[in-house]
Amino acid sequence: MERQEDVFKKIVAHCKEYGFVFPSSDIYDGLGAVYDYGQNGVELKNNIKQYWWQSMVLLHENIVGIDAAIFMHPTVWKASGHVDAFNDPLIDNKDSKKRYRADVLIEDQIAKYADHIEKDVEKARKRFGDSFDEAQYRKTSARVIEAQQKMDALHERYSKALNANDLAELRQIIIDEEIACPISGTRNWTEVRQFNLMFQTEVGSTAEGASRIYLRPETAQGIFVNYLNVQKTGRMKLPFGIAQIGKAFRNEIVARQFIFRMREFEQMEMQYFVKPGTELEWFATWKKTRMAWHQALGFGAENYRFHDHDKLAHYANAATDIEFRMPFGFKEVEGIHSRTNFDLSQHSKYSGKKIEYFDPETGESYTPFVIETSIGVDRMFLSVICHSYEEQRLPDGQTRVVLHLPAALAPVKLAVFPLTKKDGMPEKARSIIEELRFHFNCKYEEKDQIGKRYRRMDAIGCPYCVTVDQQTLEDDTVTLRDRDTMEQQRVPISGLRGIIEDKVSLTSLLKKLI
Ligand code: GAP
Repeated sequence: MERQEDVFKKIVAHCKEYGFVFPSSDIYDGLGAVYDYGQNGVELKNNIKQYWWQSMVLLHENIVGIDAAIFMHPTVWKASGHVDAFNDPLIDNKDSKKRYRADVLIEDQIAKYADHIEKDVEKARKRFGDSFDEAQYRKTSARVIEAQQKMDALHERYSKALNANDLAELRQIIIDEEIACPISGTRNWTEVRQFNLMFQTEVGSTAEGASRIYLRPETAQGIFVNYLNVQKTGRMKLPFGIAQIGKAFRNEIVARQFIFRMREFEQMEMQYFVKPGTELEWFATWKKTRMAWHQALGFGAENYRFHDHDKLAHYANAATDIEFRMPFGFKEVEGIHSRTNFDLSQHSKYSGKKIEYFDPETGESYTPFVIETSIGVDRMFLSVICHSYEEQRLPDGQTRVVLHLPAALAPVKLAVFPLTKKDGMPEKARSIIEELRFHFNCKYEEKDQIGKRYRRMDAIGCPYCVTVDQQTLEDDTVTLRDRDTMEQQRVPISGLRGIIEDKVSLTSLLKKLI
C-alpha cells in the first residue's frame, strides 16, 4: 500500500496541475503558508461557502448574516484578550535554527504513541483473523498496555503544563521525551517563549498621526461588535445567530501541510446568542447540527470524530473540535465553543456601552451567552479534496485519477463534447450549453480524443459528460457519462436538465439537513 505522505504529495501536485490551488506569488517562488485558488479551486471554494451559508441563513429563520471589515478598532483586540493572550509557545533548535511550536512537538509525540498502539492492534487482527477480540487484546497485550500508560502519563503532564502556562515544564517534557529536531536530528533546544500571532500594520499617513491596527485573527469579533446593531435593526429575539464568512490572518510559526495551516485563510463563523444558563444545551445541539452538516457530504461517519479540549481558551466553558481523517491523521476542521458572555461583557467594559438583551418574557435585562461554530474554509476544502482523490485501476489495466467530489460542490457540473469538430457537432454542443448554463456550470471541450477529455474532467471532479455524435444530429439524443461509474446512457437533450439538476444542486444536499 502507498504511504499516506506520498498520497498527500500527489494531492498537492494535483491541486496545482488542475487549477485548484497555486502557491502565492508562484513566479517569485511562493510565500510561506500563503496560497491562491485557481479557476477550479475558486468554484469549489465558493460552493463550500454557499453550502455553509445556506445551511445557516436559509435554513434558520433566526440566523442572519453580516460582512464586517477586516480592520477594526485596535481596542477590540485588547478587549477580546488577543493582544495579551493570543500566543503560541515557541522553541528553536540551536543547530538547525528551525523554529517549532512546543505544543505541536509534544502533540506529535502523543500521536506517535497512539499510532504504535493502532499498528500493534492491526497486526494482531491480521494474525488472529476472525477470532480476534480487539477489546480483550487492548486489555491484555503488555506492549499495548505499556504504550497506553506512557501516552496517558504524557498527556496528563502536557495538559497540566499547558493549563498552567508553564513554559519551562513544556521544554522539560520535550527534553524528557527525547524529542529531536526533524532537520538536524539533535536535541539542542532553546527556552520556550511566547509569540503573539497577530499581524500589525498602521493606518494614517504620518508617523505621528498613524495608529497601530491589527489584521483580524478571527472573524468572530466583527460579529460581537455588531451584536447591538443587528439585534436592534433586525428586532431579533433570543436565541438568534449571526453568521459571517471572511478572511482571517495569523502569523503561524509552523507553516506546513499545504493549506491546512495558513497565514491568510478564511473562516465561516456563527455566533449564537442564548439566554444564560441554556448555553450547554445549545452547545450540545450545535455539536449535532454541525456534525450532520459534515456527514451529509457522504464521506462516511468513521472519518469524523469529536475532540474535546484539554485546555479551554480564556473565554470558554466548553469546547470541542470536529476532526476529519486527513492523509496525515485526524485533524481539526471546525471548532465549537461555548464562549460564555466573555466577549460581549469585555466589549461593554472597554467601549463603555451597555451591551445587553431585554427579555420581554421575564422583564429582565442580561448579557447573552454565546455558542460559536467556527470552521476554516481552506481546511474544509482540503478535507473534501483529500477524501475525493482516487487513483483508480481500471479493468483494462489503465489508471485514471478521479476526484469523487460531492456533485453539489464540484466546480464544473457538466462538460459537453462534440465527437468531432465537423458536421455541425460543435454548434450542437454549444447550443446545449447555451440552454443549460443558466442552471449549472457547464464547460465546452473539443480538443483531443474523447477518452482524454473524459480523463481531464475526471481529474477536476466533473460529475457528468455529454457527447454529441452523428446520432445526435439525427434524433437529438446524446450520451451521458457518469464520472464515478463511467457508465454511459443515451438520453434526449430535452431530458438533460431534469436528470442532472437535481443531483448537482445544493438543494438536494440541504434537504438532507432537515
Ligand atoms: N473564533 C474562534 C476561532 O477562531 P480557532 O479554533 O482558532 O477558533 C477556527 O479557529 C477554525 O479556523 C479552525 O477549526 C480551522 O478550521 C480554521 N483555522 C484556524 N487557524 C487556521 C490557519 N492558520 N490556517 C487555516 N485554517 C485555520
